Amino acid sequence: NLIITIAGGGSTYTPGIVSALLSNSSKFPITEMRLYDINPKRNKDMKLIINQLLIDKDRQDMKLVVTENPEEAFTNVDFVFSQIRVGGLAMREQDEKIPLKYDLVGQETCGLGGFAYGLRSIGGILEIVGYVQQYAPDAWILNYTNPESIISEAIRRKYPDANMINVCDMTISLEETIASNFGYDRKNWIPTYYGLNHYGWYSKIYDTSLKRDVMPEIIDKLRQVNMDVAEFNEGDRYWAKTYQLMSAMVKYFPEALPNNYLEYYWFPDLMVENEDKNFTRANMVMEGREANTRKMAEQIRNGETEDILHFNFGEHGNYIVDIAVAILNDEPKRFMVITPNKGSIPNLREDAVVEVPAYIGATGVEQLALHPINDFHKGMMEAQVAAEKLLVDAFFENSYDKALQAFTLNQTVPSARAAKQVLDEMLIANKDYWPEL
Ligand code: G6P
Repeated sequence: NLIITIAGGGSTYTPGIVSALLSNSSKFPITEMRLYDINPKRNKDMKLIINQLLIDKDRQDMKLVVTENPEEAFTNVDFVFSQIRVGGLAMREQDEKIPLKYDLVGQETCGLGGFAYGLRSIGGILEIVGYVQQYAPDAWILNYTNPESIISEAIRRKYPDANMINVCDMTISLEETIASNFGYDRKNWIPTYYGLNHYGWYSKIYDTSLKRDVMPEIIDKLRQVNMDVAEFNEGDRYWAKTYQLMSAMVKYFPEALPNNYLEYYWFPDLMVENEDKNFTRANMVMEGREANTRKMAEQIRNGETEDILHFNFGEHGNYIVDIAVAILNDEPKRFMVITPNKGSIPNLREDAVVEVPAYIGATGVEQLALHPINDFHKGMMEAQVAAEKLLVDAFFENSYDKALQAFTLNQTVPSARAAKQVLDEMLIANKDYWPEL
């Protein structure tokens, strides 16, 4: 018997994860799948969609359980895939729009929006880890829930021995975009990367087919990018702007390939200028993925199943499923993980939560020992690590003072006055979710 639970089962990402699971069924033979969500309406919709997927793939032998009851969700489970979003898209909208009002970056994981989301998410994720400890202490928790650095820091403190692996698909998406647009095959790449989540750099991208480190030539190519957004691959229009920004970033700092999210930390003013303060990414997702999911459930209710058969649920689920496969079959593979540093980056504090390469197999994460990093990256990381730690202190100590220090030290924020204004407004907006500060 192989039982898995998707926590945040009502999420629009669930069908992608389930599709990825189904296409790996020889190496990951699930017998029972449980969707756990606190929102019964989203749970009901997802039940229809996943049920339809199982019919399409001729997998009705798999038991499907949809529940709002933690005991039913987690008892004797083997793997938990966690992708909860505390407060949903409505609160994501607040995370993005409140900082923008004060001309600060408004983004769901970077900047003060990410910190607000962090204070909301910690409680939700600790609850889930607590349930798993209670009902299935040997289960593996594979976590996607954002903002990952902050969540991982909270887990490191409260449940240091939990069987939990925190991963993010951002490096994969970035590599895929670069590889496909510059004529490489990402499958041949062995990337070396270090940083915090959504905040890091490649130091090397070894291509096993070309037998060389291709990072220097990619940086050269990016430095020459001077294209119109319209020229970019059709499916990648949203990425094209990011790509131009990446090109700008390596023109400033050509020594390493940055994660595209560094745009928020290096050019916060530019990011704010380019943002529509009334229509942010949350609104795009509400009108796009979210609306499509509701529509799909409605169609199935009406007996129209044609669309769902042709729907592309994207690549998002593959990464986390690859990790589950590596654990279950003890076939260690290299992934990027978010984990306590413990010397991986030798000149960075041991207890920082970093994103680095690691091999993952039946014994969990075995991370690599990397080279010391340069002062520019180290300085940026140390400041941001301290900010994240202060935020997690604020959660556990119910401390307004620590929250204000964290908000002020966040690397997108130039003024303590703006930090305080945003914190005070966010306190009100998050009154149902944050701990009392
Ligand atoms: C990437 C990031 C995630 C983020 C997601 C948001 O996958 O790595 O951290 O949650 O993008 O995507 P969305 O389409 O919801 O803006």
